[in-house]
Amino acid sequence: MRVLGIETSCDETGVAIYDSHAGLIANQLNTQSKIHDKYGGVVPELAARHHLQQIVPLIKAALQESQLTVKDLDAVAYTAGPGLVGALLIGACIGRSLAFSLNIPSIAINHMEGHLLSPMLEKNPPDFPFIALLVSGGHTQLISVTAMGCYTLLGESLDDAAGEAFDKVAKLLGLGYPGGRELSKISKHGVRGRFMFPRPMTNRPGLDFSFSGLKTFAAQTIYNNSNTQQVRADIACAFEDAVVDTLLVKCRRALDRSGFKRLVIAGGVSANCLLRSKLADMMERRNGEVFYPRPEFCTDNGAMIAYAGSIRLKKNKNHSLDIAVYPRWPLSELS
Ligand code: KG4
Ligand code: ZN
Repeated sequence: MRVLGIETSCDETGVAIYDSHAGLIANQLNTQSKIHDKYGGVVPELAARHHLQQIVPLIKAALQESQLTVKDLDAVAYTAGPGLVGALLIGACIGRSLAFSLNIPSIAINHMEGHLLSPMLEKNPPDFPFIALLVSGGHTQLISVTAMGCYTLLGESLDDAAGEAFDKVAKLLGLGYPGGRELSKISKHGVRGRFMFPRPMTNRPGLDFSFSGLKTFAAQTIYNNSNTQQVRADIACAFEDAVVDTLLVKCRRALDRSGFKRLVIAGGVSANCLLRSKLADMMERRNGEVFYPRPEFCTDNGAMIAYAGSIRLKKNKNHSLDIAVYPRWPLSELS
């Protein structure tokens, strides 16, 4: 089975082809970060227009990369939510229309399930059950995963997502958009311990997160200190430490409660080196294992959608022709 995957939920146009025997055979990506950088965040209308320009050339490039023609495809999977409605509609319309014209199934994929399954594209994929920490620009969630499609939300951010907080603090530090990676880069030059940031909601029970207070704390610290390169690096370092420690505390708590030995991290922030190494240390001490996608599959991509499509195709034979997208679509609503 060969599934074409289309991702257009935010500011990345991703197209990939997953073959259930050969694995991933094509992966194409166009990132719009330069377009949105000057506005300091994603402009939904521009994102949709850019997806429209990029999508057909990327499909052609993916077919060329895999040396296939459209006739060799068995299904088309596309991100139907959550995300920006105009951006989602481009992938949904193109995906469904292409599938209709080829008389093959089209599968609506939940973007967060795509992220959650992205470590399955690696050489050593996790077995069920596991705890998943999904950390992206729009979500911070802890999920108990007992089988494919069996997801229970354990906790989530009550306000800003971790990636959103990274981006907002990066902006305050004068870095470009999206700022998570840039902030992490400058934090390497920071002196650890020069500033101390709070670890929000770690001193009370529960698995929810809150990052907006941390962002305000960062804003105050930036305002009250001199604007030198070293101070900016020290603040970035203190902020990154605080986010990573907070995520670590909640992951440990979720693992304790569930008794699971496996942890999966996915979504854009899972590319963060400090988060990866601290979680790896923690899981080693617990005699457990941590799984994450390769860095290019942490952020949005078509490969995770093509893979999720190949799994969903086996499970569900009814694929309607309605074109529907869901700006909000909780994972717990999937079965
Ligand atoms: O999953 P993703 O590509 O898009 C959403 O679905 O939201 O995640 C993008 C987010 C952005 O907020 C970006 O700043 C953050 O992931 N990010 C990082 C790093 N790389 C990307 N945050 C911290 N450290 C990184 N290395
Ligand atoms: Zn994403």
